[in-house]
Amino acid sequence: MRGGGAPRIVVGISGASGAAIGCRVVERLADCGAEVDLVVSDAGRRTLAAEIGPGALAALAARAARRHGIREIGAGIASGSVPVAGMIVAPCSMRTLAAIAHSLADNLLVRAADVRLKERQPLVLVAREAPLHLGHLRAMAAVTEMGAIVMPPVPAFYLRPASVAEIVDQIAARAIDLLRVFPAAARAWEPEASARP
Ligand SMILES: Cc1cc2nc3c(=O)[nH]c(=O)nc-3n(C[C@H](O)[C@H](O)[C@H](O)COP(=O)(O)O)c2cc1C
Repeated sequence: MRGGGAPRIVVGISGASGAAIGCRVVERLADCGAEVDLVVSDAGRRTLAAEIGPGALAALAARAARRHGIREIGAGIASGSVPVAGMIVAPCSMRTLAAIAHSLADNLLVRAADVRLKERQPLVLVAREAPLHLGHLRAMAAVTEMGAIVMPPVPAFYLRPASVAEIVDQIAARAIDLLRVFPAAARAWEPEASARP
């Protein structure tokens, strides 16, 4: 990363199910001392309200250093000249995934992701849909070829999570670990501890 100070990380929340993952990513990054630039799509605002509650976006914005409107295409995160350490889109809808795969940078979330790719910075896409058709899979292959990491929000069943909150937390921690900006924080598989019949 260029420049000193706290690493600047962009978090995009699009309109796939799993808004809680985006919230946990922002909370964890803020707790790590990152400067979070938050951008939420129109559908993301809707899923935040539907899945968490009407005050979710305001609570989330309070943990971010900056919150940008989805149409604010002139924001700093839309330019490769502004130092950014990486970006996570959590959750990433199939629409946003496809737009990133084709550089259709007509909103700030997709433009910020496109800039991470062109600047060869880490981009983690917590792509959520089930089941997947060939178009989804092709878009995943395309962004992977361009350097992004596709990380579906799959529970780590081997850790025997006791609650949905634990599953969400583990997924958020793994997504952040994939940026390789902070020391690894996700729970790891411990074969000895888990060697129960
Ligand atoms: C409650 C709800 C859940 C949704 N879940 C998903 C999902 O899991 N994956 C997905 O790709 N789209 C999902 N959608 C549809 C997207 O929100 C829709 O395609 C939207 O246009 C995405 O726009 P965005 O990519 O700009 O956020 C969901 C929509 C709603 C209202």
